[in-house]
Amino acid sequence: MTIQPALAPRELDEPLEVDPSDWSKPDVYQLITSLVVPRPIAWISTLSPAGRRNLAPYSYFSLVADHPPHVAFSSIGEKDTLRNIRATGQFVVNLADQGLLEQLDNSGAHFGPDQDEFLEVGVTPVPSVRVAPPRVREAKAHMECEVAGIHPVGNGNLVLGRVVHVHVEPSVWRNGRVDSTLMDPVLRLSRCYGRLSPEVTAEEEPAPHVFT
Ligand SMILES: Cc1cc2nc3c(=O)[nH]c(=O)nc-3n(C[C@H](O)[C@H](O)[C@H](O)COP(=O)(O)O)c2cc1C
Repeated sequence: MTIQPALAPRELDEPLEVDPSDWSKPDVYQLITSLVVPRPIAWISTLSPAGRRNLAPYSYFSLVADHPPHVAFSSIGEKDTLRNIRATGQFVVNLADQGLLEQLDNSGAHFGPDQDEFLEVGVTPVPSVRVAPPRVREAKAHMECEVAGIHPVGNGNLVLGRVVHVHVEPSVWRNGRVDSTLMDPVLRLSRCYGRLSPEVTAEEEPAPHVFT
């Protein structure tokens, strides 16, 4: 006999206590992507072994080390980005501001491996400095990465990247560092996008803080 997975209740009249394995995949997805917010978005450019450009957004993305800097993102299943990274070992994290929201969102649609998302969504490829995949010229900052590991985790493939080169536009640099408010990054919320509120970054830290 098959036990049907429980559904997420429409309303809660008592606190929710749930083992995610008791719920359906869409319900767990909805739950967990609503709890882990806001998420930064890596707009990742890669090249296929044949040299075809690829560009797609990934919000299962974060920083995992700062010296030397490493970032991580997760591909749910095998996608063109992951296949290209497995084959070439390189990728670029383009950081999209609110002015690029439409292009970023459009690049998340399904495009075949022979389609160039730079052309499809209307952004400009420009050469990177240390890696072969191009950057998105319209983005105000980029991190060029060499793959440092790929690890299967659940239905994801966690890709670790060592940041070997960083590019930042003068327009988002203030007082000796990147000003996050000027970056105005696109953030992923559960079903929509968000942006930083200026109050969050208005308070200046007296000196750079380093985790120890
Ligand atoms: C804002 C946004 C964030 C996304 N984040 C992820 C993610 O973290 N992991 C993932 O596997 N897919 C994610 N997707 C879906 C991929 O972008 C989508 O499957 C895309 O077609 C993959 O392209 P590719 O095959 O060229 O790599 C996201 C889509 C959007 C719009």
